[in-house]
Amino acid sequence: MPTPVILDCDPGYDDVFAIWLAAANDAVDLRAITTVAGNGTVDHTALNARVACTVAGVRGVPIARGAESPLAQELAPADWIHGANALGGVDLPDVAMSLDDRDAVALIADVLRDSAESVTIAATGPLTNIAHVVQRHPDLLSRIERIVWMGGSTGRGNVSPFGEFNASTDPEALALVLDSGIPFTMVGLNITHQALITREVRSRIRAIGTETARFGAELLERFCSTYDAFGDMPDGPLHDPLTVAMIIDPEVATTVRARVDVELHGDHTRGATAVDLLELAHRRPKNATIALELDVDRYWRLIESAVAALR
Ligand code: RIB
Ligand code: CA
Repeated sequence: MPTPVILDCDPGYDDVFAIWLAAANDAVDLRAITTVAGNGTVDHTALNARVACTVAGVRGVPIARGAESPLAQELAPADWIHGANALGGVDLPDVAMSLDDRDAVALIADVLRDSAESVTIAATGPLTNIAHVVQRHPDLLSRIERIVWMGGSTGRGNVSPFGEFNASTDPEALALVLDSGIPFTMVGLNITHQALITREVRSRIRAIGTETARFGAELLERFCSTYDAFGDMPDGPLHDPLTVAMIIDPEVATTVRARVDVELHGDHTRGATAVDLLELAHRRPKNATIALELDVDRYWRLIESAVAALR
């Protein structure tokens, strides 16, 4: 039986591939796509989710607009990576679908309420929408199978020495979701930096030859060119689809149970995810499943099969 999934995202190059993998793979029953401010404003991310679906021929999945800003700080879009339109400035097609009349929280609540089975939430942006669901619909949380979130890190960050972008954009939302008790899987930079978009990967995707493949290859070229400026990474990492890949194929990554807390007050560490892999804080119960090691070839096979299965 396919897994019912809601994808909450902030497209963003890598979020686009998460949408494509969730839409294309038969192990996923994609019930809704919800968008949040993060890589770009929510106007951009809500448009870009529809661009991703338009290009790939994905139809019939409700797409809703979500939170415009984090719970407790101003939005600071990652435009140095994702560009002014949050998709690297690529020419965007006219979209083939309108937004759902409901906002993200209402759509998520309806999907949870109406589903006969529990629903898995793949989240690939700041957790603002999910935090609002926790606050406004406590009666529906038991219908969430688990949250698989791209964010945080067991090590260093990418927007500050210890802060990863999704966690740092809305640390209060992350704290609230961690405290909710909903089963939680963290897919942090420690593993997504193993998913490097090498020249070989880019050429394999381009060689698929479809409209989706051409659009995706262009996004990856632009994404990787921004990483050239970083210097410490040979290629850009394709972070977000790993959440969906772990739902499809648990063998794609190794995991361990651990305690995670998010720093809310540190002058230099706000947004850092403190992952207690060595169980040093004995009294703090383990509250998350942490993804550690990636089966790289298995991951790219899933991504490339999804792109090839779309228009
Ligand atoms: O730190 C990487 C994460 O931030 C990814 O989800 C990327 O899309 C950005 O949202
Ligand atoms: Ca993202």
